Amino acid sequence: MTERQRTLVLLKPDAVSRGLIGEIVGRVERKAGWRITALELRTLDRETLRQHYAEHAGRPFYEPLLEFMSSGPSVVMAVEGERVIEGMRALAGATDSIAAAPGSIRGDYGTSVRENLIHASDSEKSAARELEIFFPNLPSLPG
Ligand code: RTP
Ligand code: MG
Repeated sequence: MTERQRTLVLLKPDAVSRGLIGEIVGRVERKAGWRITALELRTLDRETLRQHYAEHAGRPFYEPLLEFMSSGPSVVMAVEGERVIEGMRALAGATDSIAAAPGSIRGDYGTSVRENLIHASDSEKSAARELEIFFPNLPSLPG
């Protein structure tokens, strides 16, 4: 049985400022069967980021995270495909760039825990919630 899903991917401001958009988007495009169905360069405002990172409100890294995430443009994408939620998390690698596996985006290019280049939704529930924040007008998935 196929499990077609849609996920939210952000290329964070460090990815854009370091000129890594092409490298990262290329990895997503080359993954067989996945499609980018929305893509935009957007500087994220604090209100959007507060919604997106609501689960982290009050944590010590929360304010610096919002500072970083609003410091310049990000690439905002919707990606669709077979088990793409799990797959995009694997492609991104562990949160801590130093510990992330070589071959993953964070493992190959990330510089720290915070500046880890990419966000990908961590579950179907998160994907639905986050896509509604960033792309409220996407059509329903077929099937
Ligand atoms: P993301 O939500 O961005 O895909 O990353 P994630 O699931 O791997 O990590 P999460 O725990 O949700 O944390 C969200 C983002 O906050 C920054 N962070 N900094 N201890 C720290 O300084 C710390 N911990 C997390 C990272 O940018 C992380 O991706
Ligand atoms: Mg997360």
